[in-house]
Amino acid sequence: MERGRVMMDRNADAPWSKFDPATYVDLNYRTPLEVDLLIVRLMRDYFGGCFANGVPDAMRGVDVGAGANLYPALAMLPWCEKVLLLEYARPNVEYLEKQASPAGYDALWDPFWEVLGGDPAYRRVEPRSRFSEIVRVERANLLDLDGQRRWDIGTMFFVADSMSECPDEFRRGMTCFMGALNEGAPFAAAFMKESLGYQVGDHRYPAYRVNEHRVRESLEGYVDELEIHDLHHVVRPGHEGIILALGRRNTAIATP
Ligand SMILES: C[S@@+](CC[C@H](N)C(=O)[O-])C[C@H]1O[C@@H](n2cnc3c(N)ncnc32)[C@H](O)[C@@H]1O
Repeated sequence: MERGRVMMDRNADAPWSKFDPATYVDLNYRTPLEVDLLIVRLMRDYFGGCFANGVPDAMRGVDVGAGANLYPALAMLPWCEKVLLLEYARPNVEYLEKQASPAGYDALWDPFWEVLGGDPAYRRVEPRSRFSEIVRVERANLLDLDGQRRWDIGTMFFVADSMSECPDEFRRGMTCFMGALNEGAPFAAAFMKESLGYQVGDHRYPAYRVNEHRVRESLEGYVDELEIHDLHHVVRPGHEGIILALGRRNTAIATP
């Protein structure tokens, strides 16, 4: 090893094939946290505002690194003809496929839909049947998205910051996500502020420490109407809050 060189966990080094969605859901979503319900409300109001004057035909949505979280996809349901959940870890892909099957998603996601129902556009949708009708799951690597495929609305929750310790992989994750959005596409992205990494069951996963400044910098040049919410809720030891970025992909499409 070179003297003085700090070894950082890269995305490919983490035990993604061992990711346990059941444990992850129990830790994070089985009992809805105040901060998630707040994020859902902010995202609902933002998307609702974007489409207040009508919804373009045949909108396609994407949730990148969907993992074992359905609420970003639920927030896109009323606006989309199709929603794709992209995820790298095989156990999470299986979890998502089961949630999107005709049997319907688990009841634990209902409290998140209840918050979304504060907007009449969401109340017009029957979420469980619509979810299984329009949501599809695909195993994919965020870092391979090269701008060839683009969506009209997108979400990425706790992924670019929660998959590697390396600054270059965080920035690449952000540019790949931005490259996957069409001009004018509304998006929501969330980040664990100053995270030191996280534990799921027996396994440890890496994180890159972000704050409002780093998130803003990573989106510079890609976004119109950027809104950053610096939420001070701490949900476990080893981070300092949550950052939610809302905005629209600008018109200057730069490929990653
Ligand atoms: C902290 S979890 C977040 C999961 C979910 N989006 C949420 O809001 O709870 C990080 C997710 O990123 C996924 N991930 C890690 N590396 C990835 C990659 N290169 N491409 C796509 N997803 C990746 C993981 O499998 C995991 O589902």
